Amino acid sequence: MVRSVIAGTGGYLPARSLTNDELAAEFNLDTSDAWISERTGIRRRHIAAPGESTADMAAAAAREALAQAGADASEVDAIILATATPDSAFPSTATRVQEKLGIHKGFSFDISAACTGFVYALGVADAMIRAGQCRSALVIGAEAFTRILDWTDRGTCVLFGDGAGAVLLRATEEEGPASRAILSTHLHSDGRHGDILQVEGGLVRMAGREVFRHAVSKLASAVDEALAANGLDKSDVQWLVPHQANLRIIDAMGRKLGLPSERVVVTVDRHANTSAASIPLALAEARRDGRIQPGDLVLMEAIGGGLTWGAALARF
Ligand code: COA
Repeated sequence: MVRSVIAGTGGYLPARSLTNDELAAEFNLDTSDAWISERTGIRRRHIAAPGESTADMAAAAAREALAQAGADASEVDAIILATATPDSAFPSTATRVQEKLGIHKGFSFDISAACTGFVYALGVADAMIRAGQCRSALVIGAEAFTRILDWTDRGTCVLFGDGAGAVLLRATEEEGPASRAILSTHLHSDGRHGDILQVEGGLVRMAGREVFRHAVSKLASAVDEALAANGLDKSDVQWLVPHQANLRIIDAMGRKLGLPSERVVVTVDRHANTSAASIPLALAEARRDGRIQPGDLVLMEAIGGGLTWGAALARF
């Protein structure tokens, strides 16, 4: 049986980073570091430079993922890129990345699932590798999210940041519960709740309380579903790498799994919510600093506009 394994991870953050106080001063916001950090855990975020595109950031993250896997770009059969902030309707941002990496074969396309985009892209890429449509795939989450923020709306503009993360998936024929592979992905959406988190007139609008309420219950059920599908118990999970929207939601999921806080990868304090980029950025950080080791069981989960939500289990 063919499955896919995460062979490399990479991340990219724009050079410019603003603290809550710097952001408030720059955009003349009636807010405070205390309000933002107590409710969300966010202390700073990166902001893309003028002219720095979603594809630029994605390509930088992809290059690190390739290097970590010891792979040449010519190995890549497919690029699947999740973003809510594509550089244009077409060409897709994935195809722009393909060109930047000098890849002129295979296929590339974007996925739109807001903050759940990376889990969706991982699910699609894993299914395509299992089906034999490609042998290796770059799965990327990349966002220039600060370009769709309303800087007069303090309820949303303090929450998001820019960046990109990537993983290289390779086909593997290894079998058995201890083998390195993506074990399963679980994707959901429910358009009835589309209006609580949406882009309207080009800018993000959110009913924060409503989103919070859905997040805790839907993430919990996706996590239960992923564990049950693999006959695993929560005590089998070595790392939780959650979507990074809000530290209170992240802590609630860590408690649900009975994981000590040092087993939960957190970047929201420094990155804020980078939407589809948040999980692969967190994976890249935890692989780079040696926390996640080959063989470790990693649980990922995310929720975002749509509503969309989902979970993935992978043995690194
Ligand atoms: N600084 C200061 N005050 C702010 C503020 C800010 N940045 N943003 C909102 N407020 C004010 C509101 O105006 C409101 O004031 P009022 O009571 O005078 O009207 C008050 O704070 C409470 O607003 P509310 O939106 O109810 O706050 P909250 O406690 O729900 O916290 C969030 C807001 C956004 C932090 C919280 O709802 C949240 O994290 N939700 C989940 C969001 C999320 O994860 N989204 C991404 C999913 S991918």
